[in-house]
Amino acid sequence: MKLLFFILFPILVIGTVLFLSFDHREQVKIDQHGLTDRQNKQIDALGELVPDKETILRFAKNKDLMDAAKGLFISQCASCHAPNGIGGTGPNLTDDKYLLVKEVTDIYDVINNGSIAKGMPPWNGLLSKTKLILLSSYVVTLQEVSIEETTH
Ligand code: HEC
Repeated sequence: MKLLFFILFPILVIGTVLFLSFDHREQVKIDQHGLTDRQNKQIDALGELVPDKETILRFAKNKDLMDAAKGLFISQCASCHAPNGIGGTGPNLTDDKYLLVKEVTDIYDVINNGSIAKGMPPWNGLLSKTKLILLSSYVVTLQEVSIEETTH
């Protein structure tokens, strides 16, 4: 009986120390586009979208998808527009003035085609159309004044 105690007790102590020393938090992997697996699945489930005004404005109201788009923006766009969009090499996207954008759909066109001479790269072919639409919606959410109000 005593022997059993002397064997079991150290095993229990060592076992507890080992258990506690492991990190049990789930590691969330983020891919090169700033997205988690769950976000990629969510975006894949949207299928092929059309970059019209209605779609861009609808996704701008979807908090989950805008969290994903923020990851995309930070990984792809922040180097020039800053993580919060206030600008750097590229213009400020948070104020109520746009250089190139007049309509909501122009946001998509600028991201898709770029403005190569001025240093804005085209994303056509680099990111899926659906991701470019989500980025357009995210740009809408960055604005101080809603583009819906400014283009009416
Ligand atoms: C290498 C730097 C660079 C990167 C990276 C970049 N941009 Fe730009 N962006 C620019 C520049 C420079 C302009 C201004 C172009 C002009 O004046 O013609 C611009 C313009 C824009 C505009 C138009 C703004 C306006 O005032 O009309 C939007 C929208 C935009 N970028 C979104 C994005 C998004 C979204 C991404 C990421 C997918 C991105 N940009 C990545 C440099 C960049």
